[in-house]
Amino acid sequence: MVCLGNICRSPLAEGILTKKANEKGLDWKIDSAGTAAYHVGNLPDERSIEVAKKHRIDLTNQRARQFSPSDFQVFDLIYAMDTENFANILKLASSEDDKQKVKLILNELEPESNTSVPDPYYGGEDGFEEVYHMLDLACEAVILKLKK
Ligand code: 4NP
Repeated sequence: MVCLGNICRSPLAEGILTKKANEKGLDWKIDSAGTAAYHVGNLPDERSIEVAKKHRIDLTNQRARQFSPSDFQVFDLIYAMDTENFANILKLASSEDDKQKVKLILNELEPESNTSVPDPYYGGEDGFEEVYHMLDLACEAVILKLKK
């Protein structure tokens, strides 16, 4: 799960997908990262921590890290939160196989819509609740598709 800072959207996506995978007994390696390094080592944004807590998900074990080209060797799928991060991840791909791993997360919900999860960083709490809701639906779609 990849966004820009790895403090707002992708930590929520990691927490939500991890909870759903655990509930289904799926032994998946799930992680998140940011394309930028501004917040490396930091906890998720307090507003993401709070919205996740309301839904009984703990994000306080997460620390921001920067996406690395080596992630292409570790993960089968790389979900970008928005079109800009999608493009920046593709720039780090070194093969066609790498490129095929990169998807826009909301395309799991609405195929080929190419819509972005809005960046809630500069907005209010409502934005975080909206992002939570979008990611909850998208992660449910990921589970339904991949558990087969
Ligand atoms: P995220 O949100 O990419 O969802 O973690 C942001 C976090 C930090 C910044 C921008 C977006 N920032 O400019 O520092």
